[in-house]
Amino acid sequence: MTSAAGPELLLSIESTCDETAAAVIRRDGTVLGQCIATQETLHEQFGGVVPEIAARAHLERILPVIDTAVNQANVRGEELTAIAVADRPGLAGSLLVGVVAAKTLALAWNKPLIALNHLHAHLYACQLIDGAPDDIYPAIGLIVSGGHTSLYHCRTAIDLDYLGGTIDDAAGEAFDKVAAMLSLPFPGGVEVAKLAAEGNDRAYSFPRSMIHDPGDNFSFSGLKTAVRYAITGPGRQDFSSLEISDQVKRDVCASFEAAVVDVLVAKCRRAIKRHRNRNASNDQESNGGTNRLIVGGGVAANQRLRRDLQAAAKSDGFELWIAPPHLCTDNAVMGAIAWKKFEAGQFASLDLDITPGLQRGF
Ligand code: KG4
Ligand code: ZN
Repeated sequence: MTSAAGPELLLSIESTCDETAAAVIRRDGTVLGQCIATQETLHEQFGGVVPEIAARAHLERILPVIDTAVNQANVRGEELTAIAVADRPGLAGSLLVGVVAAKTLALAWNKPLIALNHLHAHLYACQLIDGAPDDIYPAIGLIVSGGHTSLYHCRTAIDLDYLGGTIDDAAGEAFDKVAAMLSLPFPGGVEVAKLAAEGNDRAYSFPRSMIHDPGDNFSFSGLKTAVRYAITGPGRQDFSSLEISDQVKRDVCASFEAAVVDVLVAKCRRAIKRHRNRNASNDQESNGGTNRLIVGGGVAANQRLRRDLQAAAKSDGFELWIAPPHLCTDNAVMGAIAWKKFEAGQFASLDLDITPGLQRGF
């Protein structure tokens, strides 16, 4: 959309965890500029994201990253229509950096500020798929990332109800922890998936926790412990001196991945079945049924998950949209959801605080 003053342009900023990202996005969704600085090498030696290191790396990178995105888009700050930033959930120190940068630029350039829920943005990545319906909502949304594994009933992009989520580890966290047990590089999800592709997924029978539980909650910590015992035998904690053969690694990865994916797929199928029979007129609470599943977050890049969800969609007859792999992990392009908040007049004020959201139900 172009106004008399020129195209409407959004600057989107993302710094919730360990990627510093910025993008300039037109109202029609066209991305004019974007930049992501990852911190993988900084956290690799620790086998997980170290919050203080993450915050300090954001501090170094945030302005160069924004500068790169804005220059790539060939716009001046004054030409922007609004500035959006993810203010929740995430690591406190990481969130602070992005939010302070966004507020400062909003003040300096006199632009409206929009605060984004990072998880809602992960789901919105599905709206950005080529060929997606003009409005992909309502839908059931599954977020599978390093920090979250949750199901939502999404009435619109920005009006979502939390249905349930993990009561302990997130799926991505379990991938990362299993990778660390096997001395695989960080972040572990991609490495585990690579080995899993060559392993026997029936070599170990790992638990599918809560798979028969009728609710929408998940649990992955028991699975993680089962993997630990499969590798070391019960009682042993130290992996450093353990020799694990490549074949065992491949089989553990394949069996673990199958257990995670089986649970995720089963829970999605059940949530969709429950919601597709709901009718807008007789279900005030859910405000309508849906037969569409949208999936986002880093673990949504997993090939087995994508394949098994596609098979479930085909056999159960539901519509499925999974974020493209490059928009599964953290990025600022999914911040295009800010246009929905812009249209709804939902702006933040310059005293915006962060909401790390350590509680469940985000
Ligand atoms: O969404 P994301 O970039 O960050 C959070 O918001 O948490 O997700 C990162 C997570 C990590 O745990 C990473 O290991 C996992 O996504 N991941 C994968 C794959 N690619 C990334 N897990 C399984 N298979 C993959 N292919
Ligand atoms: Zn994320």
